[in-house]
Amino acid sequence: MSNVNSGARSLPGSDDYKVMALLCVLLLLWSCALTDTVYKDFWKEEDKQKFGFCDWKCMLFVQLWPGSFCVFLEKRFDCMIPEYVNTWTIHGLWPSDVMNCCSCWHLFQSDLQNLETQLSLYWPSFINNASFIFWKNEWHKHGSCAACVETLGSPSKYFGTALKLHTFYSLDKAFQTAGIVPSCDRSYSYKDLSGTLLSAFREFPELQCVMDKEGHEVLVQVKISLHRNFSAGCKDFQGALNPSSSPYRPCNKTANIYYFPINRKTPRDPCP
Ligand SMILES: *[C@@H]1O[C@H](CO)[C@@H](O)[C@H](O)[C@H]1NC(C)=O
Ligand SMILES: *[C@@H]1O[C@H](CO)[C@@H](O)[C@H](O)[C@H]1NC(C)=O
Ligand SMILES: *[C@@H]1O[C@H](CO)[C@@H](O)[C@H](O)[C@H]1NC(C)=O
Repeated sequence: MSNVNSGARSLPGSDDYKVMALLCVLLLLWSCALTDTVYKDFWKEEDKQKFGFCDWKCMLFVQLWPGSFCVFLEKRFDCMIPEYVNTWTIHGLWPSDVMNCCSCWHLFQSDLQNLETQLSLYWPSFINNASFIFWKNEWHKHGSCAACVETLGSPSKYFGTALKLHTFYSLDKAFQTAGIVPSCDRSYSYKDLSGTLLSAFREFPELQCVMDKEGHEVLVQVKISLHRNFSAGCKDFQGALNPSSSPYRPCNKTANIYYFPINRKTPRDPCP
């Protein structure tokens, strides 16, 4: 205390001190205003040119079939399908033609604590038993671009909405109703599969396949294109989002398509 007091005594005259204080405040206000302008300009630039932030019209709701997920996964990853996973699962909800909109919005485990049980069932990772890392990546890559829409405007809204979409656009229900069931022996025509989904969802989803080592065309993923109000059939996008690293491609429309059962013992070779 005594040091502070003695320091104050050595300050210039008290009027000079007030002038200096005023200058400091003015300087501070000016620099705040400047920072604010720079900040706004920065986002305008980012918004329009780099990300088209919130300009997007469509989003892809992407679901994965666990039975064939491991077939094409690189050997360096540990592929595991938990006992409790028995349905098509969510890969992601992707606003079209935008990615990585904001790396500043971190996802914490506590953001998802009310959803974690549901997410483990319907949005699990099959790689290295690391579901939270999967959710975190999906949030940064895609969720941060979706968060400008009110119903998707936070991690719990984004993940909660995706869970609702999984119930609404249920591939399990659509296929089962049409008698399309997983099988090692039976295959389906492209028309059977896409016709079933057309009548269930009133829109043609994109069916994605991989080829196994026996040369079978294997169904692995389905993409449903949604409007911002979550109704299906949105067409207004470039489709530039398909990551080039993905081994999945549109199913061959003239081949027999296999819908393999889930095999937890040998997930890379579901029909040995
Ligand atoms: C996977 O992770 C969950 C949750 O962290 C844990 O309960 C489970 O035992 C793990 N399974 C394996 C096979 O490591
Ligand atoms: C959803 O949005 C699309 C495009 O704006 C519109 O054509 C459609 O009628 C809307 N559907 C519903 C159910 O509101
Ligand atoms: C699609 O499948 C048919 C029938 O199996 C085959 O003849 C054709 O080569 C395949 N096309 C492509 C592009 O793989």
